[in-house]
Amino acid sequence: MRISVTGLGYLGAVHAASMASLGHEVVGVDVDAARVESLALGKAPFFEPGLDELLTRVQSSGRLTVSTDPGVVAGARVHFVCVGTPQSAGSLAADLRFVDAAVRGLVDHLGEGDVVVGKSTVPVGTAGRLAGQVEAVGATLVWNPEFLREGFAVRDTLHPDRIVYGVPAGAAGERATAVLDEVYAAPLSEPTPRIVTDYPTAELVKVAANSFLATKISFINAMAELCEVAGGEVTQLADAIGHDARIGRRFLNAGLGFGGGCLPKDIRAFMARADELGAGEAVAFLGEVDAINTRRRVRMVDLAAGMLDGTIEGARVTVLGAAFKPDSDDVRDSPALDVAARLGELGADVVVHDPQAIDNARAKHPGLGYERDLDTALTGADVVLVLTEWRQYRELDPARVAARVARRNVLDGRNALDRSVWQGAGWTYRALGRAEESAGGPVG
Ligand code: UDX
Repeated sequence: MRISVTGLGYLGAVHAASMASLGHEVVGVDVDAARVESLALGKAPFFEPGLDELLTRVQSSGRLTVSTDPGVVAGARVHFVCVGTPQSAGSLAADLRFVDAAVRGLVDHLGEGDVVVGKSTVPVGTAGRLAGQVEAVGATLVWNPEFLREGFAVRDTLHPDRIVYGVPAGAAGERATAVLDEVYAAPLSEPTPRIVTDYPTAELVKVAANSFLATKISFINAMAELCEVAGGEVTQLADAIGHDARIGRRFLNAGLGFGGGCLPKDIRAFMARADELGAGEAVAFLGEVDAINTRRRVRMVDLAAGMLDGTIEGARVTVLGAAFKPDSDDVRDSPALDVAARLGELGADVVVHDPQAIDNARAKHPGLGYERDLDTALTGADVVLVLTEWRQYRELDPARVAARVARRNVLDGRNALDRSVWQGAGWTYRALGRAEESAGGPVG
């Protein structure tokens, strides 16, 4: 199958390479010349495990070409739209400029019977609004939401949990379904569940899934707030309720909360769209989900202040982690970087370390200190904050770190460290959702 992919960011670059690896002939288009150049050299323009290897493999097979020329999509039969839908400046709503421009740009190059497949996360109603332009040239629009997680993007694309097609009613929808079945023949044969819906349902599936995940995280973080005041242990609480199969333990890790390019902006855009539709009340709880998430960052700063006896100004604070989660260099809405910035604003001498995200973090917060060498970053610290659970932080040897720092204060923002080992090495350990512990056990 000849396929085009418009937008070669986290979603599109992975999708293009994955489709080529399934044996399709893929052309990828992006307006960003540097990104295209990097991809053409078989180098992912961002950190995503496994993507470089995949790019090199599909490029040497000749099945993936990339370009800044929108005209290269002509001749493809299936056209994926993978551009971003960031939060609008000054409102909660999604900014649809890139989606609208991508579809407008494709229309001139479409042939009769082509299928345009939207993968971007859009407010419900977008596909219905755009379908007319595509149908006017004899093509069909499908909405096919993407559920990939950064860090597992290649695996999630090639072996998804489910595949959803939002199609128009009638023969055009059936034809488009058959075409997409051919594109996804390999994952469908695994077998992967395939659910064919109308446009609004497909659009809602994506935001509903992300809203549920965000709610699950904020639920456990709300319990963490309770644990902190009542003297409980949120990690044990999560283990205990997670054994109930109806609840499940996944996505119940309490800590600094969610960030990234999807969950925060998707729940906000969902609230904005629901308001427009007159159904704001139905998702008003997402405002609380967002508020709980932000409160964790404030709490982290308070805990740091407590460890520094209230004197943040001038204190040396080592922040371990800038990416919004491990195995990513993405700092979009990163809780870790936000906490670092808040501490910086309060006058702390902040040094941020991250295995992959320093360049992106520095571009966003140039005023903070950055250090690529972990030992140097730890040297002289009055408090160490573990804010992204990279493996190398989880495996830190507290005795070795103790030799570097000025004071043995550690704040575990992701409940990622073994408290007893750190305390055994003489550290004062605090974590979100876990009571302060004395030698005799937890205290209130
Ligand atoms: C998410 C969805 O998982 C994915 O299906 C969707 O397509 C895009 O958004 P991603 O943004 O890559 O993917 O990150 P994810 O792994 O879901 O983590 C989101 C955030 O939640 C991270 O900041 C992570 O640290 C946080 N998180 C996750 C928790 O705080 N606790 C958890 O238990 C799980």
